[in-house]
Amino acid sequence: MSAKIPLLLILSILSIFRILSILPMAKIIYKDEDGTSTEIIVDPEKSVLEMLEEAGIDYPFSCMAGACSTCKITVHKGKEDLKDDAFGTPMYPVDDNEVLSCICGVNKAFAENPDAVIELEKTEE
Ligand code: FES
Repeated sequence: MSAKIPLLLILSILSIFRILSILPMAKIIYKDEDGTSTEIIVDPEKSVLEMLEEAGIDYPFSCMAGACSTCKITVHKGKEDLKDDAFGTPMYPVDDNEVLSCICGVNKAFAENPDAVIELEKTEE
């Protein structure tokens, strides 16, 4: 019997636990302009904007290419855990505490840390 089968079984069980939110995972806390907080489970394969959308947050965007700044978002905590060029090259300048959510992702090490938290808030215009 191949050694791959037990490994696949273990990975499948871990995936089920993650889907059921049994295992703690890194999270993003998004605070809307009205003060509502939403906790978002991190997916390192998706941009911050995609994670926001999947959580039901209607965040503004336009170009989806890092060129317009419509999607910029303020980072209150965890900027070091974000990768601002994960899904493209930022072409629009933003402040030090902001990222372009359409092309920004999270670092893999962050996603695997169950105690890790990034705090985001809609950027004031
Ligand atoms: S939607 Fe244009 S920079 Fe993100």
